[in-house]
Amino acid sequence: MKLWGGRFTKETNELVHNFNASLSFDRKFYQEDIEGSIAHVTMLAEQGIIEKDESSLLIKELNQIKAELAEGALILDERKEDIHSFVESVLIERTGDIGKKLHTGRSRNDQVALDMKLYTRKEILNVMELLKDLEFLLLKLMKEHLDTFMPGFTHLQKAQPVTLSHHIGAYFEMFKRDYERLRDSLERLNYSPLGAGALAGTTYPLDREYTASLLSFKGATVNSMDSVSDRDYLLESLSAFSIIMMHLSRFCEEIIIWNTNEYQFVELDDAYSTGSSIMPQKKNPDIAELIRGKTGRVYGSLVSLLTTMKGLPLAYNKDMQEDKELTFDAIDTVKGCLKLFTDMLATTTFQKEKMAASAKGGFTNATDAADYLVNHGVPFRDAHGIIGQLVILCLKKGTALDDLTLTEFKEASPVFEADIYDAISLKSCVEKRNTKGAPGSEAMQQSIINSEKWLMNL
Ligand code: ARG
Repeated sequence: MKLWGGRFTKETNELVHNFNASLSFDRKFYQEDIEGSIAHVTMLAEQGIIEKDESSLLIKELNQIKAELAEGALILDERKEDIHSFVESVLIERTGDIGKKLHTGRSRNDQVALDMKLYTRKEILNVMELLKDLEFLLLKLMKEHLDTFMPGFTHLQKAQPVTLSHHIGAYFEMFKRDYERLRDSLERLNYSPLGAGALAGTTYPLDREYTASLLSFKGATVNSMDSVSDRDYLLESLSAFSIIMMHLSRFCEEIIIWNTNEYQFVELDDAYSTGSSIMPQKKNPDIAELIRGKTGRVYGSLVSLLTTMKGLPLAYNKDMQEDKELTFDAIDTVKGCLKLFTDMLATTTFQKEKMAASAKGGFTNATDAADYLVNHGVPFRDAHGIIGQLVILCLKKGTALDDLTLTEFKEASPVFEADIYDAISLKSCVEKRNTKGAPGSEAMQQSIINSEKWLMNL
């Protein structure tokens, strides 16, 4: 018998039952469902809607059901439509008529809105913890690699030298924003829809603020129709998750490039790479590739839910049941990727010599050579042209700017003196860049102090 079977004279068609049912996935929030019911029952008794001893019995049994589900002692009955029906039917089996009072003043519409919010809130906090773990690792690497020189790129062409510390600092900022985005979204999420009923509240004297406080919400939502049909908090979470994945995918892409035979900037740990079934020499960055690939899946969830919600009239519509699988999948994917990425990065070796050698080639100090001329009175546009000519000369000779003789420098411009070599050395190219946010070690150390302060205050 269905919860709502009273008005029906026929059993649901089996295919219809299966199509309509959500137990196979909403089982995921059985704990939240039961915690919500406990808050509801506590409030019903407080308001005199049911007796105190009735609520005590219901709470005891609900806790028992929760424990049995956790242990696997109670098996979910697939014939039930959803987790709400399942829990209620077990409760009624065990407590008889008293159990039938559980759903007084409640609809599955506010119940499911509550369960999903509780579940998402919990998981957002889990994702935030994982982001924090990653940030601690990035901070450690930033401290360790202040003098690991490497080329900075634009258009994937060597541009100017930076340090690995600085490069990683860029990702620190991205994941910091991700953390803050989730934290901000919790501010808006944290209101309880329980008590909104099917759409229009109830005639019982429910105390919505009380159930909200029992469930650690900041308060109850304002409008009952909005309460049961709002999925904004999921869209916000999914978009924050998508941005996290986008950031991970960029870092993964770089690791994949750095791991190529051509670059050899990094060596992945054996435990975090895979081989080929045919090519014995291979050590592939599959984890980084998979994380990059799974980004599409999380974007898919966001676009899917946006599309589901588009044009939905007020209030609850069954379309909204579609929010679950895609949100669960996105949450599990983001959590898995963050954890694996952090572990992979923690075990990656950076090949400092290779990185420095690469920074030395490719004329990453050409801007500094031009700046040298500017500091000796040559207008920047002329300096740019002079160094351009020297680059052509180097390309012909197959050397770097640093390898030119002083005579060759002087032929290009008489203002060059012997101190040009020091001015365009890798170290001074980086060290001179000390504007706020730049890679010079003074600026970088300030960034590290700020990053550490932020992490410590979380
Ligand atoms: N499984 C449903 C969902 O996920 C629960 C709410 C059902 N409400 C209803 N009026 N049929 O949205």
